[in-house]
Amino acid sequence: DRSIKIAPSILSADFANFGAECEAIEAQGADWVHVDVMDGHFVPNITFGPATCAAIRPHIKGVMDVHLMIAPVDPYIEGFAKAGADIITAHVEAGPHIHRTLQAIRGAGAKAGVALNPGTPATAIDTLLDMVDLVCVMTVNPGFGGQKFIHSQVDKVRDLRAMIGDRPIHIEIDGGVDPTTAPLVAAAGADVLVAGSAVFRGGSVTDPTPYGENIRAI
Ligand code: DX5
Ligand code: ZN
Repeated sequence: DRSIKIAPSILSADFANFGAECEAIEAQGADWVHVDVMDGHFVPNITFGPATCAAIRPHIKGVMDVHLMIAPVDPYIEGFAKAGADIITAHVEAGPHIHRTLQAIRGAGAKAGVALNPGTPATAIDTLLDMVDLVCVMTVNPGFGGQKFIHSQVDKVRDLRAMIGDRPIHIEIDGGVDPTTAPLVAAAGADVLVAGSAVFRGGSVTDPTPYGENIRAI
């Protein structure tokens, strides 16, 4: 179903060649590039920050979709917007003022996304539907690639699609997406699928990893 966008996550890419990896996945069919920012506080892992986003920006023709798994969020919004993020997604669980954070993301010129961990119900965002351009449903507990898809989240996707109705809001699925799980969430109403390990499969630009095949298989 080609109306579905694929957003490979560079968390599973070759950390020594981010620029080349972004060019490779775009050349082989990626619709967006998903950038997983982790602070070792909101999630038990550390990846990269605004400087890396700025460095890879010139290597991405399309959408740079920045997923902030950080708390607090507000002090860093400006930096990610300046680095060229098209979409900045914050976790509803990252603090008490998600509404203010979403206002700040749009104020900084980026599209605003809100992410829900597996333990957070869809109703957590029913007051935010006029503040977001994207809802990211975590189908793994955030922090790492290559984890197992949490099937209970498929019902949450259906609930969100019903809540969103015909508003122009993307439903993005993040975690454990592969050729077997993708159809489940697409049928439930998702339109953007993040995939790290299913696309990169431990490969790198220095070997002929068939990113295009892996993307088309999802
Ligand atoms: C996890 C990240 C996901 C992850 C997806 O905290 O937010 O984007 O990289 O990786 P896979 O597709 O391997 O589950
Ligand atoms: Zn992510």
